[in-house]
Amino acid sequence: MTAISLSHLRAHRDAGSKFSMVTAYDACFAKAASAAGIDCLLVGDSLGMVLQGHESTLPVTVQDIAYHTQCVASAKPSSFIIADMPFMAAATLDTAMQAARTLMQQGAQMIKLEGSSHLTELIRRYRDQGVPTCCHLGLTPQFVNQFGGYKVQGRDQRTADQMVEAAIALEAAGTDMLLLECVPNPLTTRIMEATTLPVVGIGAGPETTGQVLVMHDLLGITPGKPARFVRNFLDGQGSIQAALSAYDRAVKDGSFPEQAHCFAE
Ligand code: KIV
Repeated sequence: MTAISLSHLRAHRDAGSKFSMVTAYDACFAKAASAAGIDCLLVGDSLGMVLQGHESTLPVTVQDIAYHTQCVASAKPSSFIIADMPFMAAATLDTAMQAARTLMQQGAQMIKLEGSSHLTELIRRYRDQGVPTCCHLGLTPQFVNQFGGYKVQGRDQRTADQMVEAAIALEAAGTDMLLLECVPNPLTTRIMEATTLPVVGIGAGPETTGQVLVMHDLLGITPGKPARFVRNFLDGQGSIQAALSAYDRAVKDGSFPEQAHCFAE
């Protein structure tokens, strides 16, 4: 199977075609996702909630992400591997550079950072050092205490305009990809029109270049009521492998997400 690279993801944006992404934290699931044709594996700090049982992603450390990145990379997946920058790990330039070095040396091919236009200087530094980046905008779970809960972002004109401006500034600074979480569809449209980067969505509507889900949500094993943007792909499938293939197909043929998974306003 061809190894997926950043140029494949860019080509999807240029061609208007779709790519798939799922979180993975270990070798076994990384192999299964790669065999299903899933383009990107995200070693997300969601592992703090789904693996470690915390109530938020805040307790996750660089060492945690490094360990799970190494586990995923050891499967030698053909999927592109993205590692999350944990809470406060990029608070200073020094810690940000050290963390990226650790994660890239464990096998990450891109670093995802939560934040906004304040990331532009760091994105430039990473670019100078050969570290591709993905900027996560919208509902950034590391900011849950500031947001006062896990809420849809960009619903009012001011925050929507700020998000569009941040996306433009981050592209100008040299980021390689954007990830939009829980934003209304019309805002996704604005960000797609304002940038030329591949954009991955989760609860951001059908228009993005890629879609991402947390593995445990996709398999319907996360306890509690699923978020609006989640579909259980194991439903009606005989195996995890079949569920991952069904997810990959649904993203690529545009049948996921449906309007029921989106925020219209
Ligand atoms: O940590 C994570 O898994 C994420 C996804 C929900 C996008 O950031």
